[in-house]
Amino acid sequence: MNILLLGSGGRESAIARLIAKSHKVNNFFISPGNPGMKTYGECISLDGFEQIGNFCIEKNVDMLVVGPEQPLVDGISDYFASNNSLKNIVVIGPNKIAAQLEGSKDFSKEFMFKHNIPTAKYRTFTSKNITEGKEFLKTLSAPYVLKADGLAAGKGVLILNSIEEAEKELEDMLNNQKFGSASNKVVIEEYLSGIECSVFVLTDGKNYVLLPEAKDYKRIGEGDTGLNTGGMGSISPVPFCDEVFMQKIKTNIIDRTIDGLQKEGIHYQGFIFFGLINVNGEPYVIEYNVRMGDPETESVFARIDSDIVEAFCLIESQKLNEYKIKINPMSATTVMLCSGGYPESYEKNKIIQGLDKATDAIIYHAGTKENDRNEIITSGGRVIAVTCLGDNIKQALDKCYNTIRNISFDKMYYRKDIGNDLI
Ligand code: AMP
Ligand code: GLY
Repeated sequence: MNILLLGSGGRESAIARLIAKSHKVNNFFISPGNPGMKTYGECISLDGFEQIGNFCIEKNVDMLVVGPEQPLVDGISDYFASNNSLKNIVVIGPNKIAAQLEGSKDFSKEFMFKHNIPTAKYRTFTSKNITEGKEFLKTLSAPYVLKADGLAAGKGVLILNSIEEAEKELEDMLNNQKFGSASNKVVIEEYLSGIECSVFVLTDGKNYVLLPEAKDYKRIGEGDTGLNTGGMGSISPVPFCDEVFMQKIKTNIIDRTIDGLQKEGIHYQGFIFFGLINVNGEPYVIEYNVRMGDPETESVFARIDSDIVEAFCLIESQKLNEYKIKINPMSATTVMLCSGGYPESYEKNKIIQGLDKATDAIIYHAGTKENDRNEIITSGGRVIAVTCLGDNIKQALDKCYNTIRNISFDKMYYRKDIGNDLI
């Protein structure tokens, strides 16, 4: 079969690596992809749903796999379903309504409360009832959590230490459009204290396959300090996700989510990413995402030894229960190599040396491009993800850091303490 994958980051590099391994695939296209992904498939740059659709018709594409959330929230799945020449193409990724689980914090919180899924208590406000919002803040204690309702490029969540700051930010979000239209509504919620982890399923709307869990390291600085980033590293498995905790996640969170979607008549096909927090041994949902995580996927997919395309193929017939996932019991760890200055301003176009020296590691490109001398140069904040497998987290991390010693570019930065809290 022929597959088109959308995306260009480390997450999509990891998805592409598994798709390329499948015995079911004839032609594999990636849009836009990156220089590292050229080893997995043919990279082309397609702009907008219409170009993507036309390309699928021209190349007889059978399946569209969507990496990032934006096209899903924008309705790419609905676009394919409503077009006669495209409706037979299987889309791995939910439709627009289902994608609201990520696209609207208000929608996802309401969904969780309706279906008794553990999450922080909350209320939603608009500029019309901002005074009530300030009253609600007074019923909570510090720190205060404010969330822009819509997608805000990962920046829409504010955690504030004083009520004065929280009130000011609430005004900025609702009255001054701090996050554009994404903050026309703001969710204020109770702060939960605990350790976070990421759990993933692939679902056909009825059945689901549980993928390996992971933990990501979000802050720029060592010891989890400084600004939030897209993710500086990840590990899988997560030591505190033992059998008892995972069973609670399945019963109280995953099963209720799948049942809830069915009860509401929302058809969901694709990945669901549960951003969870462990509060004294009880899992709570911090957020849903309608895609895989980055840089979790780099570690999670390194541990999947079965054919992922076989799973994708069982989705349309809702027979995902027949899929036998094979998970490698080894530990996988990922360390992100970033441009110095990220997540604030940073320089690009730095030549990356030493990528070919990696032997016992997977090198995923995340923010790279090729210059006209065919050299690989930096083009983003998060540049390269280095993923290794080991008998335990420590061994996998040692391999990552040994690999990194051979890789360099001007002002390269990475965290040297990934996984240290759990070793
Ligand atoms: P989100 O974009 O919803 O994942 O939020 C970004 C980050 O903010 C999360 O990964 C958490 O670290 C933190 N966060 C969000 N909501 C809460 C909450 N209710 N309590 C504590 N931390 C939170
Ligand atoms: N690593 C968190 C995310 O992908 O949203």
